[in-house]
Amino acid sequence: MEELKKRIREEGKVIDGDILKVDQFLNHQIDPMLMKKIGDQFAAVFRPAGVSKVVTIESSGIAPALMTGLAIGVPVIFARKKKPLTLNGGALVTDIYSYTKEVRNPVYLEKDMLSPEDRVLIIDDFLANGEASLGLTRLIEMAGATVAGIGIVIEKAFQDGRKRLDRSGYSVFSLARIASLDHNRVSFLDD
Ligand code: G4P
Ligand code: NA
Ligand code: NA
Repeated sequence: MEELKKRIREEGKVIDGDILKVDQFLNHQIDPMLMKKIGDQFAAVFRPAGVSKVVTIESSGIAPALMTGLAIGVPVIFARKKKPLTLNGGALVTDIYSYTKEVRNPVYLEKDMLSPEDRVLIIDDFLANGEASLGLTRLIEMAGATVAGIGIVIEKAFQDGRKRLDRSGYSVFSLARIASLDHNRVSFLDD
């Protein structure tokens, strides 16, 4: 997505050669006009897969997921990092490993949110090692539902996540694919 790549080039800041900071439009301040276009793009790609729900994980996945759900016309669910006090039918839970913090953290999804008929599109802001996306696939499959695809706003193609998701057989589409952040410079895979 050219407009997204332009924003990354102009406003992204690289930290320590492997973290891309995009706090001007995605991770802190959110640009709703850009998110709208991101949602439209994901909808165009994944609508044919017969999506009935969009699932993401709080917090930064919510903005692109919401716009995707709006464009397709289906509900959006965010998995929670803290156990809600208000669970009705009980929670599905899985641990997600954080490479940066070297800890496992649980994420929760209320059991009744998904049913075996659901075809679920996963949306997330970043794909690095794939732990978050793979955790969401586990929650969706625990509910008996089907993963219809995985949409990623910014893929760090130099990390293992994409390979792991491809190997698991999921249909993955990323709007911007970063080949390298070496020397604190962004280069895209298709430059
Ligand atoms: P993984 O899920 O692909 O394995 O990613 P990883 O554990 O490495 O990432 C942990 C957190 O860091 C995630 O956010 C992820 O979106 C974010 N992240 C990973 N790489 C980058 C990057 O280059 N830039 C930015 N800005 N974020 C990155 P989170 O902890 O779940 O937080 P939230 O922002 O969604 O609340
Ligand atoms: Na994040
Ligand atoms: Na995220």
